[in-house]
Amino acid sequence: MDDVTIREARDNDAAGIASVLQALVAADKRSKPSDADFALSYYINGPHQILCSVAVGADAEILGFQSLKHATEGNPYEVKVGWGIIGTHINPKAARRGIGKALFKVTQAAARAHGVPAIDATIGARNAEGLAYYEAMGFREYRRLDGAISKVFQVG
Ligand SMILES: CC(C)(COP(=O)(O)OP(=O)(O)OC[C@H]1O[C@@H](n2cnc3c(N)ncnc32)[C@H](O)[C@@H]1OP(=O)(O)O)[C@@H](O)C(=O)NCCC(=O)NCCS
Repeated sequence: MDDVTIREARDNDAAGIASVLQALVAADKRSKPSDADFALSYYINGPHQILCSVAVGADAEILGFQSLKHATEGNPYEVKVGWGIIGTHINPKAARRGIGKALFKVTQAAARAHGVPAIDATIGARNAEGLAYYEAMGFREYRRLDGAISKVFQVG
């Protein structure tokens, strides 16, 4: 982790974020969009975005990112309005090095600064690593959806 920097995403990170998403698709860990336009419009400049942070390696490669959005009326996961909605994506080649943990430190601070009382993470029920990661960050299960488990983090 010593060689990894966490900072807020910029528009010109779109290709780097897309490459993380594409690595996850190649590893069979993602099936949703993974192109640079999607990265820019959904994460970097996404509607209701509170913060999108990137983890940058020594050679300036983006190794992962984390997104925190406001849950607004009609949000796709039906998360309580006012809560945050989190998403985390780490390139598999950089997994289990503490990058997810470092990103969450920054996200948690942003949630607090924005007065977000709680953060929802909705994870595929068979995504063992995603479930274990959020549990390790202090999230706890509060509901089950079709094929997914939602965990909540109380910002306090
Ligand atoms: C899940 C994910 C975000 C974890 O990120 P990461 O940078 O590898 O996580 P960290 O190295 O910071 O791990 C922090 C803790 O989470 C838990 N954890 C992370 N990956 C784990 C795994 N594969 N198996 C079990 N526990 C895991 C551990 O408790 C770990 O602490 P430890 O390494 O000291 O035991 C990453 O693997 C990923 O992007 N997966 C694909 C996308 C995804 O599933 N996103 C989340 C659901 S939307």
